[in-house]
Amino acid sequence: MNKEQVYQILLKQAKSLVDKQVDDVANMANVSRLIMEHFPHHWIGFYRVVNNELILGPFNGPIACTRIQLGKGVCGTAWQLQQTQIVADVHQFPGHIACSALSNAEIVVPCVRNNEVYAVLDIDSTEFGAFDNVDATYLEELVSYL
Ligand code: SME
Repeated sequence: MNKEQVYQILLKQAKSLVDKQVDDVANMANVSRLIMEHFPHHWIGFYRVVNNELILGPFNGPIACTRIQLGKGVCGTAWQLQQTQIVADVHQFPGHIACSALSNAEIVVPCVRNNEVYAVLDIDSTEFGAFDNVDATYLEELVSYL
């Protein structure tokens, strides 16, 4: 199976998994685990906007930093610009926040509701250049189910 085919299965499962009757935390917990089952990256999780900061939310992977300011790191940049960030080599990204020395590439997708970012989905890989526009397209679709 190629990456697109795996994402198509993932999206189908996510659609039936996400329960609009429960809060974001419950759905983010299942969605981060679901992604990990299909794409076993180093770290997969959410940061939520709480009191104008990004605060660590549900994740799968090693312990991570708990607070990120607007415009800081890859996550804070995705939040500020309301734009998916694909970083092929995090060591070249100015202000990258290294939660784990093993991360080499990263993708961060903003989760938007009523034109406002309320969370970001962050995926870290040990492999340089792990993410591309295919990941961006499918992950943007995925977060729209939340
Ligand atoms: N590297 C991120 C911080 C979050 S961790 O990767 C889990 C950043 O630069 O925003």
